[in-house]
Amino acid sequence: MVIKKMLALVLGGLLCMNCFAACSKPAPLLKEKYNDYFNVGVALSKQTLAYYDESILKNFNLVVAENEMKWESIQPSEGVFVFSNADKLIAKAGDLDMQVRGHTLIWHSQTPSWAFAGSYEDAEARMLAHVTKVVTKYKDNISEWDVANEVLSDGDANELFRQDSGWYRACGSNDDKFVEFLAKAYKKVHEIAPDAILFYNDYNLNFPTKRAKAVKLVQKLLAAGAPINAVGMQAHYDIHGLKMTDVENSIIAFKDAGMKVSLTELDLSVYPGDYSGAPYTELSAELDAKQADVYGELFALCRKHKDTVLGVTTWGVADDATWKDNFPVKNRKDFPLLFNVSAQPKSAFQKISNF
Ligand code: XIL
Repeated sequence: MVIKKMLALVLGGLLCMNCFAACSKPAPLLKEKYNDYFNVGVALSKQTLAYYDESILKNFNLVVAENEMKWESIQPSEGVFVFSNADKLIAKAGDLDMQVRGHTLIWHSQTPSWAFAGSYEDAEARMLAHVTKVVTKYKDNISEWDVANEVLSDGDANELFRQDSGWYRACGSNDDKFVEFLAKAYKKVHEIAPDAILFYNDYNLNFPTKRAKAVKLVQKLLAAGAPINAVGMQAHYDIHGLKMTDVENSIIAFKDAGMKVSLTELDLSVYPGDYSGAPYTELSAELDAKQADVYGELFALCRKHKDTVLGVTTWGVADDATWKDNFPVKNRKDFPLLFNVSAQPKSAFQKISNF
């Protein structure tokens, strides 16, 4: 009896010491949890760059500029390059030991219309000059580039490219010419930054029709000699209708096409696509829990495909600064990110951290 009691005391003491050691250790950062899986990234803008505490930002090991590396920010008028905001982001990434995604070089949006004006030769020369200037400047800082963004059409299955793109129009709205144009961009980036991972990036790539178009584009680019390595699934989803099997089928399809995959702009709106009710003024416990489940399932899926998935990046840090407050509906408060309006971790953050 006495021996049993003594044994219990000794064991209890050991457990206590153990607990003390464990409890006094800081919780591992998100990026540490994902060390053996993939990069965890975050988008910052010139407005949010200095806004969030480093204790939050150091959870991430990759950063992307929400707007500051787009054409209109970097080359607002022809030949005039403004790097100051992008430089600040690169410096911050250096301080926090983060990799940097470059977003983006060729896009129809947030690009001044003079870029596509004139003849095909004019447009191509401007594209190559832009790519050369920007990629050369950041070749030691940027580890991956969204070379082309959103060139695919949302129309029916036989329409491959977005018809209203200035770049597509500059190619005479000719698919083959446009593929050749894009391939030139990928080759130029690779020539200057041979170690950078080169992405094609787009939204709605979880849906079968657009998935098939992305596979077709990858195949055409490879056939044209473009050194493309990966597909970026933007992942602007919502918490109501997302089918994990759709996301998984796309990861597999891109892998089968020889590509790596990242979720590049992840946010999970709390509104269903066809929502027409009054906007929520706060995130209810019910929505918070539902959102946590969807975040949890998505990260679990990416962990399952860690041999293909290079990174998961959320499009912002906290619900106090998200583009979803104005998209697709203006002035409708949304709550799509991992930290709440007071920059505190949400249930979603706990869910993706504990596995
Ligand atoms: C968005 C930014 O978040 C907004 O601040 C800006 O006003 C418009 O662009 N697809 C992309 C991103 O590739 O660059 C977009 O970012 C969101 C959709």
